Amino acid sequence: MTETLSRGPVTGTAVKAPAKKKPFVFDLYSTAVGKKYVMAITGLIGLGFVITHMIGNLKMYLGVVTESDGERAYDIDIYGEFLRELAVPLLPRTYLLWGLRLVLIAAVALHIHAAIGLTSINRHARAVKYQSARDYQIANFASRSMRWTGSIVAIFLVWHLADLTWGFVLPDHVVGAAYYNIDQSLSRIPVAMLYIVGNIALGIHLFHGVWSLFQSLGWNNPRFNAWRRYIAVGSAALIVAGNVSFPVAVMAGVVEYDPAAVTHPVGEENE
Ligand code: HEM
Repeated sequence: MTETLSRGPVTGTAVKAPAKKKPFVFDLYSTAVGKKYVMAITGLIGLGFVITHMIGNLKMYLGVVTESDGERAYDIDIYGEFLRELAVPLLPRTYLLWGLRLVLIAAVALHIHAAIGLTSINRHARAVKYQSARDYQIANFASRSMRWTGSIVAIFLVWHLADLTWGFVLPDHVVGAAYYNIDQSLSRIPVAMLYIVGNIALGIHLFHGVWSLFQSLGWNNPRFNAWRRYIAVGSAALIVAGNVSFPVAVMAGVVEYDPAAVTHPVGEENE
């Protein structure tokens, strides 16, 4: 029954005000469909980041370059400085980088929040089993593997930031010296193994994630399904191949920090 806000014309008695309606986005987010949308959009932001990050890291294979002023530096370190200088002088140094970081942090937080919410909705909704045992197994395996691989990637990410960004778990960490830090970190065999496991988990997660985000966004035309598979396999394979190559290259000695090759070696100011 609909309630009105108007005063009753006959009795003069005020009618109870209707319950305040939640804004549309919050209403949508409270549903499974809304959460799937959020997972798809935040997942795309994450995918965009990991592809860009992997391409940026490929610069470690370019080794040392000579800059226009004659200084020699590792190309990946020059790239790191370029990221910190983004939008300067329009904005102060690192402002745009921090803006991008905040978008990424919000996307990761929402992705995890929506995933937990969806898991709880699914637990409550699955009182009646699927009709076909096969569908049941496939759906179960996919969502269980997403929870596992997602958790491994999250643990990897915390380690990775503590290692290469903050330096808590990398004794010789030097801020702004990515090439040096990567060599120091991935020369430790257990750490190199962790990077390989973390990135394979990421590949499995991306394969299923990219496949299902088309579904969540409603792009599941049968004519398009072969492409869906190519895009899911292709993006996952690209990330795994690129990211696993880095620890392998360090262990094989292809990537090795050489203080004699650069104008300002790490630790020079302390000598
Ligand atoms: C073997 C693969 C990888 C290598 C060698 C690598 C390398 C690096 C390095 C050197 C940094 C620090 C940059 C600096 O502040 O100087 C960094 C930061 C970061 N990495 Fe990775 N990374 C890898 C994989 C990944 C993956 C798979 C993810 C996400 C799942 C990731 C997420 C991040 C994030 C969020 C940052 C912080 C970015 C920032 O501070 O702006 N990385 N990575």
